[in-house]
Amino acid sequence: MIMRSDASPTLIRLNDYRAPAWRVAQVELAFDLGIDTTEVTSRLRLLRDPDQHEPLRLDGEGLELLSITLDGEALPESAWRYADHVLEVDGANDGSVLETRVRVQPAANTALEGLYLSGKRESGFLLTQCEAQGFRHITFFPDRPDVLASYTVTLRADRDRFPVLLAGGNPDGHGDLENGRHWARFVDPHPRPSYLFALVAGRLQKIEQDYVTSSGRAVKLVIWAEPDAIGHCHYAMDALERSMRWDEQAYGREYDLDVFHVVATHDFNMGAMENKGLNIFNAKYLLADPDSSTDDEYRAVEAVVAHEYFHNWSGNRVTCRDWFQLSLKEGLTVFREQQFSADMNSPSLKRIEDVALLRRAQFPEDAGPLAHPVRPAQYSEINNFYTATVYEKGSELVRMVAGHLGRAGFRRGMDLYFSRHDGHAATLEDFLRALGDANAIDLMPYLAWYSQSGTPRLTARGHYDAAQRTYTLTLSQHTPPTAAQPQKQPLPIPVKLALFDRAGRMLPLHLAGDATSTPAATTERVVVLDRAEQAFVFHQVDAAPVPSLLRGFSAPVILECDYAPGELALLLRHDVDGFNRWEAGQQLAARAFDNLRDGAGTSALDAWCDALAALFGETTLDPALLADLLTPPGEIELSERERLVDPSRVHALRLQLQERLARRIGGDTLLQRYEALASHTNRDLDALSQARRRLKRRVLDLLALVDADRAQKLATLQYDNAPSMTDRLAALAVLARGNAPQAGAALVHFRQRYADSPLAMDKWFSVQTQLPGDIVLARVRELEADSAFTLKNPNRVNALFGAWARNNPDGFHRPDGSGYRLLAERLAELDALNPQVAARLATAFNGWQRLEPTRHAVARAAIDALAGRPGLSRNLTEIVQSMLH
Ligand code: PHE
Ligand code: ZN
Repeated sequence: MIMRSDASPTLIRLNDYRAPAWRVAQVELAFDLGIDTTEVTSRLRLLRDPDQHEPLRLDGEGLELLSITLDGEALPESAWRYADHVLEVDGANDGSVLETRVRVQPAANTALEGLYLSGKRESGFLLTQCEAQGFRHITFFPDRPDVLASYTVTLRADRDRFPVLLAGGNPDGHGDLENGRHWARFVDPHPRPSYLFALVAGRLQKIEQDYVTSSGRAVKLVIWAEPDAIGHCHYAMDALERSMRWDEQAYGREYDLDVFHVVATHDFNMGAMENKGLNIFNAKYLLADPDSSTDDEYRAVEAVVAHEYFHNWSGNRVTCRDWFQLSLKEGLTVFREQQFSADMNSPSLKRIEDVALLRRAQFPEDAGPLAHPVRPAQYSEINNFYTATVYEKGSELVRMVAGHLGRAGFRRGMDLYFSRHDGHAATLEDFLRALGDANAIDLMPYLAWYSQSGTPRLTARGHYDAAQRTYTLTLSQHTPPTAAQPQKQPLPIPVKLALFDRAGRMLPLHLAGDATSTPAATTERVVVLDRAEQAFVFHQVDAAPVPSLLRGFSAPVILECDYAPGELALLLRHDVDGFNRWEAGQQLAARAFDNLRDGAGTSALDAWCDALAALFGETTLDPALLADLLTPPGEIELSERERLVDPSRVHALRLQLQERLARRIGGDTLLQRYEALASHTNRDLDALSQARRRLKRRVLDLLALVDADRAQKLATLQYDNAPSMTDRLAALAVLARGNAPQAGAALVHFRQRYADSPLAMDKWFSVQTQLPGDIVLARVRELEADSAFTLKNPNRVNALFGAWARNNPDGFHRPDGSGYRLLAERLAELDALNPQVAARLATAFNGWQRLEPTRHAVARAAIDALAGRPGLSRNLTEIVQSMLH
């Protein structure tokens, strides 16, 4: 049950931070586990800050207090108070031991925060989720990340119902009890905050692997899943070993316990959780097999396994002082995960994928009512701040700093950061200071990036002086005001650049005033713009060059540079920076989109189509890169460039853009390429096999735009013969999106074939949400009436409502407001079950303020109506209120 009384919008402020008045040295927890009720006994050895004189206050939410003793004495009722989620206790001293016994109700916990049941009550298992503030739903505690304690955890339960008992730390004994019960104990030698606590209990199966760290420590790796899923955990195990090895080599970081447990659950609010020694994963990011997972999902499993493992150092050994510092662990860990994935796969494809995600998810956040700095200054509900800004933009900030220090310098800095703050709770200042100290550089100017929201616009203007043989590049920056921050300051923006001549060759760079520039100058370098405007003069330039700017996306900004279409086409053909090559194509595609929208000229459209048609014939190009080059910016990205957004028009224009491209390449050429690629069909996971599938999907999508009939026939064949989910789903998407006559039979087949695979069924829901505008709403209503749909499962909710509202703008933004009303109604229902998931889904309304007037009016009405509902959670209230301001 959700407490309804806490919807008051109390703001927590970064500036109000105070060190804790009470800390905890040691925690002893004992659980008597049961599905309906679980009893938790906690013994806390308390430490008092001698300089503070507050009474002992512990957080606790929804706890039924059974008993309480202080230093072994039962406390009279007058000596404690439990109200408003705080237990206040009189008479505690430094060194006191407080013991509480509470009862909680796992099966009734639909919010999936604290202790809850995954799956059905007869067959499911118990588990916990504590980040950010779930521990207070389990026991009384100063539930804040700067209270680090040593944990001893004893689990007791019925042996038949809960044969497997797990908690974080090293195993410290187990045995039998009376009445068919048993126990197991775990001790964690490393002090840690309460948000990293975890336990799991139930009928799970395992796969195991021995691992020896580089210094020779033997570690047992164990992955746990329900019996039908355990066979799909081998890829995750492989990814885990590679992650561990990589962190040893890249950062000198080793694992520090005797065992490392990983558990999969289908009922999880987020992607995965880095609990110390006991990572818990949304099954979506752990299970992988070719029959039910796509190539993209394999890569996501690899990335998330690595991410959670890397947290063991960036997050667990060095944790956050308070939740405002969340990006200290998340931005840094996303960055480390991105480095790892780049090393395992293709660096430029990885960069393309990451930047595309940043633009799709973070730029719109930074441009709308939910804009907040990477380190927010205040929040009402911390769970609303696990955002693309904190994660993805946070990673970009680490990347800038890492780029500034260079490979060796960054490693030196990270070594100092880890050693200086090991076992402590740190801040973003600590991070920048350690990296700077190790390199005798002041990195504090980068702090401004953490406190300022909004995406900076970087404007570049080039001027060539033939007489002087100089090229002057003038860079300027401007950050538009955001919701809470009208004034913006200039930021340090590292711009990695190169200059190309008209034949597509890179020029040596002789930058004026640069001591390092020698006759054998390099062809690529970084300049840092750290004021509003600055000019950089390059010498010995024989003809007007074409600049390649922000190479590798060296800063998270929006670049505005008035390239001629032919210049972008030149970079698209010749740039050796794989990322910038793709980027030139994206810029050109956006201009081509403008051509179609404005009906004035086709020079960009022609240049884009011609360049890609030429690249299409090049056999040496990586098929995966070609697939990405053939994909124009998405509808959300294109909408960001519009002053008033009409999602249907953006959708239609983007289709038209791709149709032009498909015609320019030619139906026969597409067909030939499709057939050549189809002749390689397999289910292997090597890079080339994956790349071919990716290109095949793209080519089939393009073919569908010029010869729908033909494409649908091929898709039907591909569906029927697909050896892997990647091929099967790609084919199904062509049929479903095109509302093809063959779609119905394929969907019925899929529904039956995968009825027992929740992850595959999620895809069945998602793929049907991509029907064109006017007909999708009826389908969404049919799908939510399907017996396989439930609002209680976050993955299913996101597969249906998330995929519809986020990935099908034309189908969500119906001009009559029917889409908005449906989503708002479901959000209210969902909020009563799971506020975190409801609040996250509600962000699909982001951007409504820039909609054209008709949609704007009906969107406002739907959001207003939602805001007016009584009893909304604090989570949803905060999102909806920001949305309306
Ligand atoms: N800390 C997790 C991660 O990024 C995300 C998470 C947050 C999971 C809150 C659950 C709850 O790895
Ligand atoms: Zn994380």
